[in-house]
Amino acid sequence: MSSLPSDKSRSLTPAVHSGEPARFAHDALTLPIIQTATYTFENTAELVAYMEGHREREEYGRYGNPTVRVVEERIAALEGAEDAVVFSSGMAAITSTVLALVGQGAHVVLFNDCYRRTRQFVTTFLARFGVRHTLVGSADLAGLEKAIEKDTKLVISEAPTNPYLSVVDLPRMAEICKEHRVKSLIDATFATPINLRPVELGIDLVVHSATKYLSGHNDVLAGAVAGKAGLVSLVRDVRHMMGAVCDPHAAYLVHRGMKTLALRVSQQNAASQAIAEVLEAHPKVKRVWYPGLPSHPNHAVAKAIMTGFGGVVTFELKGDLASTGRFIDALRIPRIAPSLGGVESLVEQPALMSYFELSSEAREKIGIRDTLVRYAVGIEDTHDLIDDLQQAFAVAAIPD
Ligand SMILES: Cc1ncc(COP(=O)(O)O)c(C=O)c1O
Repeated sequence: MSSLPSDKSRSLTPAVHSGEPARFAHDALTLPIIQTATYTFENTAELVAYMEGHREREEYGRYGNPTVRVVEERIAALEGAEDAVVFSSGMAAITSTVLALVGQGAHVVLFNDCYRRTRQFVTTFLARFGVRHTLVGSADLAGLEKAIEKDTKLVISEAPTNPYLSVVDLPRMAEICKEHRVKSLIDATFATPINLRPVELGIDLVVHSATKYLSGHNDVLAGAVAGKAGLVSLVRDVRHMMGAVCDPHAAYLVHRGMKTLALRVSQQNAASQAIAEVLEAHPKVKRVWYPGLPSHPNHAVAKAIMTGFGGVVTFELKGDLASTGRFIDALRIPRIAPSLGGVESLVEQPALMSYFELSSEAREKIGIRDTLVRYAVGIEDTHDLIDDLQQAFAVAAIPD
């Protein structure tokens, strides 16, 4: 019995079955793709019954789709949330959620290591519509308390963050937000509901780029938001207006991917921990960031609130921009690409990807060093990934 997973991480069964009706149309075993833009009414009496709220059913593709709905219910079940709503991408989910919760004159507090497009949306786009913001340091809850004003409506963070995998103390963040009657939003894309369930820790809404671990195969873009039914309904209303719906075929791919979510994530957790430990002991590595390592600044918080530490390992090599590039080029298994969470390992040098337009000095100021590497671990054999890293160190001639 001791090898069975703990209650907290028992997601294998819900990942396969939750959210599904007892039987699908035509007794299909797998989720049918209902590829329709609209839905028919048999007669005007049926239409009137629906309009008067006596019948629950679909009406028009932007307002709902049965294939998408199953995915929403599965995500809500995995998050321990009352409801969820699915979007065409992670950014559609984030922007629609923020638009549902703030208006002109509102103030938003944002942790400064949020996904760059989320930051851009709040700090430049929403600013055009009279929404003010304050940026606070990574996982800095004292800074958060100071930043909250009388007009603050929303606090946004990620857990873990990119690329340094900071983990904010979510129960404490939730308490602070409740004390000040401010809504809290966590982007838990890097964690997945297998490793972290923010809503169960008191956070109002959790958002995901389902493009990453939830779908898990690097073949679809989607996003999701989960939380209390009333709040999710506000976000769904925004989707009805903005129209960033998830296509039924994309929803099918997310659903199929989620069946193996718990398996994939537990493999990625174990492999990443092993890789992080090998890298930390390596003479050519300056520093490793992985929440499962005692050396990570948020290890204690991560241990308290997460059941696994995720599939991304960030490390800084000795050497320089060019030798780091040589190391990445020498890797044989991970492909160079911006993303994470799929079955294929991916690698990137943030200085040459997300932060390319900045000078080396400007990057250094925001903590993105030239020799930084972000490794998103896939589900390949852990020994193969470690052997590959070792041969790349030898080929790249990184100094000790
Ligand atoms: C943490 C995080 N949130 C949101 C997004 C945006 O998701 P999408 O690309 O599905 O729009 C990303 C994309 O990289 C991400 O890494």
